Amino acid sequence: MTSLPDITSSWAPAPAEPAPGVAVRTAARVFFERFGTAPRWLAVAPGRVNLIGEHTDYNGGYVLPLAIDRHVVIAAAPARGDGARLRAYSAALDQSVDIRLDGSEPPGEPAWANYLRGVVRAFGERGLIAGSIDAAIVSDLPLGGGLSSSAALEVATATLLEEATGATLDPQDKARLCRQAEHDFAGVPCGVMDQVASVIGDAAGALLIDCRSGDVRVIPFADPGVSVLICNTNMKHALADSAYARRVTECAEASRRLGVSSLRDATPAMVESANGTLDAVVARRARHVTTENMRTLAAATHLEAREFAEVGHLMYASHRSLRDDFEVSSAELDALVDIAREIGPAGGVLGARMTGGGFGGCTVTLVRTDCVAAVANTLTIEYRKRTGLTATTFVSRPARGAHVLDPLTVV
Ligand code: GLA
Repeated sequence: MTSLPDITSSWAPAPAEPAPGVAVRTAARVFFERFGTAPRWLAVAPGRVNLIGEHTDYNGGYVLPLAIDRHVVIAAAPARGDGARLRAYSAALDQSVDIRLDGSEPPGEPAWANYLRGVVRAFGERGLIAGSIDAAIVSDLPLGGGLSSSAALEVATATLLEEATGATLDPQDKARLCRQAEHDFAGVPCGVMDQVASVIGDAAGALLIDCRSGDVRVIPFADPGVSVLICNTNMKHALADSAYARRVTECAEASRRLGVSSLRDATPAMVESANGTLDAVVARRARHVTTENMRTLAAATHLEAREFAEVGHLMYASHRSLRDDFEVSSAELDALVDIAREIGPAGGVLGARMTGGGFGGCTVTLVRTDCVAAVANTLTIEYRKRTGLTATTFVSRPARGAHVLDPLTVV
């Protein structure tokens, strides 16, 4: 949802100014053009990239994402007029919606606004009803690119409503509220990783999240010698949402068969010994989740010890497991990971894997910083040769979680 200049089209070094500067100023400008006055609040929520721990969150397992310096920004101000209403304009889609803030608004069209409606409903149910608000939404996160643009929109909305109602939600509660909005209003039975990363993101590093207890530990990741390169396949396959929902059901089936309350409590050995009694597909799904939990904990330990080569090996293993056992990769994602592996340590690549739900979207590659430009270049050229498609790449440092900025300090 952006009319920003396309800064994803080539490798970009770390921005010279603190993110989310560009998106914030664009949002303030769009708000002014739309509503003829300056915004009072700038609610900012980052996307995320997951280093490892995929399809484990809804199984009560471990994930290791970092919030990235790409954001959804909502510029907003109290509005005049009767009733409590949110008038929101999306710059990317050039569309406006008008939503009742009392929580009585059902899901509907346009579909993108359901992320707003769901969060508004949850606030309304808690009796947290703001007076009317005008809002302009701008984002420099690729829409539907697997970097949690929808979670960032939910979290930005919740952050705005906290400000407008004077409420402060507990961060875990806020993340769960946003996830519930996605379940109920967008129909995606997602886990809580994306929302937690967007709410709790930390510029100091990646977040090791225990998705059962909610515990979050920041794993410092500020080594200037190693960079996180995100590469977008620019391809999203149809039916990705229904395939995601099927995986959730298959995992629930696996845990029932294994007699555990969630796959978090199962081990690869338990899955192995139940092989005869489990449906072959369900067994493969369970093997992925149980081995991925172990890989994620090991990766956090290695990251903490700055053993990046080991983290890289685990990323490749994660990708294989997602491709072969969980079957959520795609030809385009595989091509990017293959190219990265072919470049290898000699060319500065430490590891690569698909990131997010899969069926398209992005890969995450750990790269020696002095090689980032060359790696991004090779990935783009080779990807085009192999798929005929254009990939887009960018580097991100870990970013701060959702917050509100005072427009006077940024414009
Ligand atoms: C999507 C979901 C997350 C998580 C990932 C897969 O991003 O929103 O909750 O399940 O897929 O790890």
